[in-house]
Amino acid sequence: MAVKGISRAVVRRLPRYFRYLGELKDEGVEKISSQELSELMNVTASQIRQDLNNFGGFGQQGYGYNVSYLYDEIGKILGLDQRHNLILIGAGNLGKALAGYANFEKRGFYMRGVFDVNPELKGKKIRGIPVMPMEDIPEFVKKNNIDIAVIAIPKTAAVPVARTLVDCGIRGIWNFSHVDLEVPPTVMVESVHLSESLMRLSYTLTNPSAFPMQ
Ligand code: NAI
Repeated sequence: MAVKGISRAVVRRLPRYFRYLGELKDEGVEKISSQELSELMNVTASQIRQDLNNFGGFGQQGYGYNVSYLYDEIGKILGLDQRHNLILIGAGNLGKALAGYANFEKRGFYMRGVFDVNPELKGKKIRGIPVMPMEDIPEFVKKNNIDIAVIAIPKTAAVPVARTLVDCGIRGIWNFSHVDLEVPPTVMVESVHLSESLMRLSYTLTNPSAFPMQ
C-alpha cells in the first residue's frame, strides 16, 4: 500500500481512529459508516473519508467500513503489527511511571532495560525490568535488538545521551526531556511535553469562546 506523502496531521489522527476502532471491535461491532464513526469521534465524516483515502480508502460505497479490517490496516500503517524493543534512560519519577506501565506491551512495545547514571540504582528492578549503568547501553542495544529509546533525564544530559543512542543504532527516540534533539534524518524523534498540553488547556479556559462547546 502506498503511504508516501502523508501529512503529519493525518498521522497524528491515526492513533485515535485505531483506539475507537479497537473499542468497536471489542464491542463486537462489525461495520460502521463514516457518518456513524464521525458522530462517535466528533469529527466530520468528510474528514474521516479524506484521511482514510490517503491509504486507499478501505470503505465500500453503501456498506461502510469493516471495523476489524480497518483496525488491522491502521495498525499495520502505524507499524503496530511489529514488535518494538525499548530501553529507557532515566529511572526517576517519570521513568519509573513509564517503565511501570504494562499496557504498552499490548501494542507491541516491550521495555527491555532501564539505564541511569545513579550507581545506587544499579541492580534494582522496575516491574521486573533491570536498571543498568549507562556504559552497558551499546552491548545491550545490540544483543536485544533495541530500536526505540525513551529519554526521561534532565535536559542538559539529553543531548549527549541522544548522540550515544544514535551511535548505538537506535532508530527512534521517544523524548520526554525538555530539549529539541538534533539527530540524523534516519533517526526519528517524537517529543512529548505534558506541560504544553496543560498550556493548551489553560488557553481554552482563558479563552472559552475560541473553541465553542460542541
Ligand atoms: P527525576 O529527577 O526524578 O529523575 C531523573 C533521573 O535521571 C534520575 O534517576 C537521574 O539519576 C537520571 N539521570 C540524570 N542524568 C542522567 C544521565 N546523564 N544519564 C542517565 N541518567 C541520568 O526527574 P523526573 O521527574 O523523572 O523527570 C525527568 C526529566 O523529564 C526531567 O528533565 C523533567 O523535566 C522531564 N519531564 C518531562 C515531562 C514531559 O511531559 N515531557 C513530564 C515530567 C518530567
